[in-house]
Amino acid sequence: MTASCAPRQAPPARPESPLFPWCCVGMLLAALVLPLPIFSVRCIDPPVLDSMKLKGVIKHRYYPGDRIDYECYRGYFYVWPYLLSATCEPNGSWSRIEEACLRKSCPDPEVKHGKVVAPNDTFEWESEAHISCNEGYFLRGKPIIVCNLIGENVSWSDTIPHCEKIYCGQPPKIKHGKHTNSYRNIFEYNELITYSCDPSNGPDEYALVGQNKLTCIEPNKWSSDPPLCKVVKCERPFLEHGIMVSGSREKFSYQSVVVFECLQGFYLNGSNLVFCGGNDTWEPEMPTCIKGYKPTHPTKTPLSKYPGYPNPSEEIPSLEDFEDLGKRELVLDPPLSRKNLPVQQCRSANYFPQTHVSVYILIILIC
Ligand SMILES: *[C@@H]1O[C@H](CO)[C@@H](O)[C@H](O)[C@H]1NC(C)=O
Ligand SMILES: *[C@@H]1O[C@H](CO)[C@@H](O)[C@H](O)[C@H]1NC(C)=O
Ligand SMILES: *[C@@H]1O[C@H](CO)[C@@H](O)[C@H](O)[C@H]1NC(C)=O
Ligand SMILES: *[C@@H]1O[C@H](CO)[C@@H](O)[C@H](O)[C@H]1NC(C)=O
Ligand SMILES: *[C@@H]1O[C@H](CO)[C@@H](O)[C@H](O)[C@H]1NC(C)=O
Repeated sequence: MTASCAPRQAPPARPESPLFPWCCVGMLLAALVLPLPIFSVRCIDPPVLDSMKLKGVIKHRYYPGDRIDYECYRGYFYVWPYLLSATCEPNGSWSRIEEACLRKSCPDPEVKHGKVVAPNDTFEWESEAHISCNEGYFLRGKPIIVCNLIGENVSWSDTIPHCEKIYCGQPPKIKHGKHTNSYRNIFEYNELITYSCDPSNGPDEYALVGQNKLTCIEPNKWSSDPPLCKVVKCERPFLEHGIMVSGSREKFSYQSVVVFECLQGFYLNGSNLVFCGGNDTWEPEMPTCIKGYKPTHPTKTPLSKYPGYPNPSEEIPSLEDFEDLGKRELVLDPPLSRKNLPVQQCRSANYFPQTHVSVYILIILIC
């Protein structure tokens, strides 16, 4: 399909009439003889403003010299030297008038050792103030307060919060162990204490299981639970069809590491490295030796998630993943059809504005 437009025609020129001069004379006469209606100048629609309203009775029309007065809406206050009145001018327009009132604002909330944010950039009524404390301090009170308009006055919805210094009391005492600065009762924010275990009287030493360093992070809150001091003993590990290649010793205490290998003809399933954990067990779980040869493509055994062991962030996709993909069909969007192409629009060839018609009719009637 080819779209084409007929060339646009210009509106026909007004035909020169032989009666033209007479027509003009007639029109002049008519203008002189007929008294034109004379409207008196008036002002309508007094200006509407956001911050102020008209005072007194509103009239339908005002005459030059008339004055209208405004007053601030509730919750707004007047700002000098803006005008609160407008006058009807001799040409029928109102004298210039601008917003003369502003929203009342709540006082700036001052918070020592903290920060106040105005999401609306102002503390006018209906706006919020967001309060937060500097590091080492905590907020007592509400973090968000709203400026409210009550009657004619504005006030904050709640008392302005304040920031207080963070202190911690004594950290927990533990059995068979102690912590530094234990003679003190009060600790400041970020202060660090270190736990250690007592020497034991028995054949095995106490092991410190857990975090040995704690810091004061919140009011009366330490960064973690205290550690445990306990005797940790793991049994000698035994791997069927395998051997311990390193780490062999008399006693296996907390965090002793052993490394395994499988005998020939067997392959290892699991971690070749284990350590003696705080619960007297080997972590991660003991591996096994399986008869045969390691499969050529990797089995999807979960990677060990124990702390301290490298953990690749992404698993390499297996061949099966790609095979799965291949089975899916490719779905394409329907191809662009010609139907969707925009239709070129043609302006009417007989363009002849209606206003012109009415002018011609008027002139014909007059003449
Ligand atoms: C009317 O007159 C005033 C001055 O008296 C002028 O500022 C204003 O622009 C005029 N308005 C119109 C619509 O002519
Ligand atoms: C911002 O101002 C508007 C209008 O004054 C109000 O409705 C809104 O709650 C305000 N928002 C905040 C976060 O202060
Ligand atoms: C508003 O404030 C004025 C002056 O501060 C006070 O006299 C008036 O009682 C207040 N009105 C209300 C409703 O709180
Ligand atoms: C390897 O060990 C895991 C868990 O320890 C087990 O679920 C899996 O079946 C074992 N693989 C083989 C091939 O035995
Ligand atoms: C050790 O034992 C405790 C209590 O039984 C348990 O909550 C914790 O998860 C165990 N830890 C490990 C690493 O198994």
